Amino acid sequence: SKDITILAIETSCDETAASVIMNGYKILSNVVVSQIESHKRFGGVVPEVASRHHVEAITQVIEQALKDAELEPSDLTAVAVTEGPGLIGALLIGINAAKAFAFVHDLPLIPVHHIAGHIYAAQLEKPLEFPLISLVVSGGHTELIYMKDHMSFEIIGETRDDAVGEAFDKVARVIDLPYPGGPHIDHLAQSGKDTFNFPRGLMKEETFDFSFSGLKSAVINKLHNCKQKGIEVNKSDVAASFQTSVSDVLTAKTFAALEKYDVKNLIIAGGVAGNSELRSRFTSMCNDKNINLQIPELKFCTDNAAMIGAAAYHLYEKNHLADLTLNGRNFIDI
Ligand code: KG4
Ligand code: ZN
Repeated sequence: SKDITILAIETSCDETAASVIMNGYKILSNVVVSQIESHKRFGGVVPEVASRHHVEAITQVIEQALKDAELEPSDLTAVAVTEGPGLIGALLIGINAAKAFAFVHDLPLIPVHHIAGHIYAAQLEKPLEFPLISLVVSGGHTELIYMKDHMSFEIIGETRDDAVGEAFDKVARVIDLPYPGGPHIDHLAQSGKDTFNFPRGLMKEETFDFSFSGLKSAVINKLHNCKQKGIEVNKSDVAASFQTSVSDVLTAKTFAALEKYDVKNLIIAGGVAGNSELRSRFTSMCNDKNINLQIPELKFCTDNAAMIGAAAYHLYEKNHLADLTLNGRNFIDI
């Protein structure tokens, strides 16, 4: 059969990304331009600043992806783009670029859900095996998803308040770490201990839902109280205590879900999947329990377009295409 070569575009948050992916897994190019430096001084992503950077970068990023792949537009089968969820202004830049490209080169347009992309990052390494459960942990998402086949997603648990990555970033901010704080907490925690025993949200309840706002508040209150009393806090211990609380909840809920759904395949996806404690705990627990674990390589955990191209392949197979009225959407079912 003929090769399916997809140009994928991702602009849902603060990375302008384009990639050329063949047959859903073979990476011909992968370009990611991060805006992190521009958002740092604001302590988080400023949506309008993000949109403006995407506008400036998108054309060059797409050109570079084609150049790195050593392909011409006429070599492509289709164009894929993240349609949501994400920052609307940011999404629209990628969507408009994809539409223009598809129109000019007469290519089919494939709309991709951002979370599907995060999960399909695993496919860049090896084919997915079903049924599987995916724990998606990013700056905007915390979900447990059951998949019985390609592009079939059942959300079995999700956060009721903050996303995990969001909690990491907020806690990092109160201990004066730069944005995005996740990797810095990860690093600090390595020299700390769980001395604070912060709350583990919804652990005693029979739900696969998560809650991290109580944990976040507990950390902030603790720091505030210590400051008032003039007590010096050990930041490494704060980081380690916070991270251990998060890891306890994520591992417990995920393994309960694997058991209930009788699933042997687990994918951890999204930016927080880069966390070293999570990676090592999931790795050893999956070893013990004979669960086949897949965690994408670090650079495919955070936002990128290769993962969008990987998911797009299956949408193309199912003829799930968009026309040139495609819009950015935040409330879409995965
Ligand atoms: O998937 P992603 O790049 O963007 C979203 O779709 O949200 O995830 C970014 C999030 C940020 O909150 C960042 O702090 C977090 O992932 N993150 C980490 C680590 N690396 C990135 N959190 C904890 N530990 C890490 N090593
Ligand atoms: Zn993401």
